[in-house]
Amino acid sequence: QLVRKLCVAAVAMLASSQASTDDDLMRAARQIFKPIPSIMPAVKDNPVTHEKVELGKMLFFDPRLSASQIISCNSCHNLGTGGVDAGPTSVGHGWQQGPRRAPTVYNAVYNLAQFWDGRAADLKAQAKGPVQARIEMNATPDHVLNTLNSMSDYVVMFKKAFPNEASPVTFDNFAKAIEAFEATLITPAAPFDQYLEGDTTALNDQQKAGLKLFMETGCSSCHNGINVGGQGYFPFGVIERPGATLLPASDKGRYAVTEAASDEYVFRAAPLRNVALRAPYFHSGQVWSLKQAVGVMGETQLGIELSDKEKNDIVAFLNALTGQLPKIEYPKLPTRTDATPPPSL
Ligand code: HEM
Ligand code: HEM
Repeated sequence: QLVRKLCVAAVAMLASSQASTDDDLMRAARQIFKPIPSIMPAVKDNPVTHEKVELGKMLFFDPRLSASQIISCNSCHNLGTGGVDAGPTSVGHGWQQGPRRAPTVYNAVYNLAQFWDGRAADLKAQAKGPVQARIEMNATPDHVLNTLNSMSDYVVMFKKAFPNEASPVTFDNFAKAIEAFEATLITPAAPFDQYLEGDTTALNDQQKAGLKLFMETGCSSCHNGINVGGQGYFPFGVIERPGATLLPASDKGRYAVTEAASDEYVFRAAPLRNVALRAPYFHSGQVWSLKQAVGVMGETQLGIELSDKEKNDIVAFLNALTGQLPKIEYPKLPTRTDATPPPSL
């Protein structure tokens, strides 16, 4: 009888210590990370309206805004493949290969600044870049505006999206509409969000072990907040620089923005939401396995060699960062007219 009582007490103690470890883990996680809110974020100086979002969606998918008329934002930020292209680094106008991997547009609105080196303050500033970049869409603001003005459906959409403006078809408004659409590209309700909201069963034991490692080894000192990253800049290779394949000497990262010697090879800590959907990894896009990418981070950023089990546990946790992608209906785009400029390949 006594033995039975002792056994019951021991099991109860074990269960309660398990519960308190569970509670501790959740408490610690809540201090470091935030769930993706289910409501769309507000955008600075750009109220998000239904009309603006619809227009922005059309612009995002319209290849005729590029010089060749075959490249749209969605070519490199494919919304069906995690908001990125097939990698490694993006191929744009004239089959030219750029120096960097496309980062995802999903949840980009939560990043401190845009690009691997943070050189654009926000999505509005960012959107004007790719259309003009020679190796991306190779167009000019004039090409964009002539194309849009040549199709009356677009002109009507701009009037609805910017109702108080006399001549709303402008390059600024083009960028604002895209920014408004991008603010809808959020992916809430990942298992990790459910966990942060209090559901201990949303992560399995392996994912919890991975979360614990992610916090205890120090990954979360750089990858934290809503986007599990995207909030600060760090050298790629705090402890040990990766080789030239992963870190080509030609791309000095944030140094190009600040010209401070201390910013050589400094990059934005990559946001890790939906990371399992978007191999290959790093700005150079040379690592195709998430497990390998985790190993690289251990060595370069923390100076530790993670065991096989530890890497698997962390990967399991990273898989719990995959959220619900918004349902996006492919837009019907306005038909070209005789006034629409022809493509130039
Ligand atoms: C970066 C949106 C077109 C390739 C970005 C970012 C956003 C974005 C929001 C920053 C994301 C972040 O830093 O987390 C757009 C929009 C486009 C467009 C709205 C259309 C107007 C393209 C095209 C290509 C491309 C056509 C490929 C040819 C890239 C690359 C980067 C990037 C390589 C990273 C550049 C760097 O860090 O220096 N884009 N993009 N984008 N996009 Fe696009
Ligand atoms: C990139 C995970 C620790 C800073 C990445 C990527 C992953 C990752 C998967 C690639 C994401 C992508 O390509 O989209 C981890 C894990 C860590 C860890 C599991 C712990 C073992 C750290 C620490 C720092 C850091 C401690 C800061 C000191 C960065 C930076 C990048 C990055 C700057 C971008 C590198 C580039 O230029 O491509 N991390 N990370 N990470 N992480 Fe970590």
